[in-house]
Amino acid sequence: MSAPLILAIESSCDETAAAIMKGSRLLAHVVATQMIHEQYGGVVPELAARAHQTQIIPVVEATFKRAKIKKEAITAVAVTEGPGLLGSLLVGTAFANGFALSRNIPIVGIHHTKAHLLANFLEDPKPSFPFLGLVVSGGHTQLMRVTSPLEMVLIGRTVDDAVGEAFDKIAKMMGFPYPGGCHIDRHAQRGNAKKFSFPTSKMAGLNFSFSGIKTAFLYLLERESKKNHNFVSQNRDDLAASIQSALVDMLLQKTERAMRETGMSRLVLGGGVANNSELRRRLKVLTTTNGWELYMPSPAYCTDNAAMIGLAGYYALALGNVANLPIIPRPRIPINNSK
Ligand code: KG4
Ligand code: ZN
Repeated sequence: MSAPLILAIESSCDETAAAIMKGSRLLAHVVATQMIHEQYGGVVPELAARAHQTQIIPVVEATFKRAKIKKEAITAVAVTEGPGLLGSLLVGTAFANGFALSRNIPIVGIHHTKAHLLANFLEDPKPSFPFLGLVVSGGHTQLMRVTSPLEMVLIGRTVDDAVGEAFDKIAKMMGFPYPGGCHIDRHAQRGNAKKFSFPTSKMAGLNFSFSGIKTAFLYLLERESKKNHNFVSQNRDDLAASIQSALVDMLLQKTERAMRETGMSRLVLGGGVANNSELRRRLKVLTTTNGWELYMPSPAYCTDNAAMIGLAGYYALALGNVANLPIIPRPRIPINNSK
């Protein structure tokens, strides 16, 4: 049987994305990032849904053009089922359901955070199984034990904010535009990470908590700005380096513990915060020191994209996980036992 030609759609948050796969090979992908949220300092769900509505058709058209494939050639559809914002997911699933139904081709629903880890299989070298997965994004901070492409068990997660959310909220306090994680990363490169210290949470087990450090940062700014109006502008680089170092410490602490507790020798990273240069550097040191393998996607496959959804779709189709139409969005779909 020839490889399936898969149209993949991602719309779980504020990126409208499409990809076309020939089997496990990516032919083309397009991501449209919604700029409207910048002025609000965070994603506004209603505006995100509306922006998906206007962007989805142009994004899909551009993907077909780039892949040089005709719509009639597509043999299956993969779409993000959840987790994510309900209104955003509705636009992607409605489009995907319609496309599959009108052509009478199979459709598979994909778990977004699982797909973030599968992004590592879009490039070489690819990890083998089993491995420990760490997903760090604007909506998630999760540790997973992964035994096959779609068999993942959650073993640790944030109990409050996701690490990307902490980066973004702290960046907002410092006056950076949304999403601010990359601005902290950039300024941190010129800063002294030892200038300010922050309490890193002491959560039991493998769970994370980022709300305490965020509040500690806010209190520091309030306290120091009373004494010196220009405190933030005069210390921007050192503040960025210090808070980034503390956030990365928290991620590394639990990741190292999870590696030891599970006895894994491979670590696989995914999600937008996987772009963070300090996190990448420190993970390289940690894994090299311990003789572990480390896999991290290229930047374009760290942040939300549909190529990772297409690859997850390829694995789901191979397992025969075809859904009954229509796929209904599941904003809080759990990891364990999901397809
Ligand atoms: O995976 P993603 O595109 O969307 C979600 O599924 O949430 O992740 C977006 C997150 C944002 O919080 C953004 O600030 C963060 O990834 N991010 C970074 C960096 N690049 C993106 N955080 C820290 N350092 C970066 N270089
Ligand atoms: Zn994501």
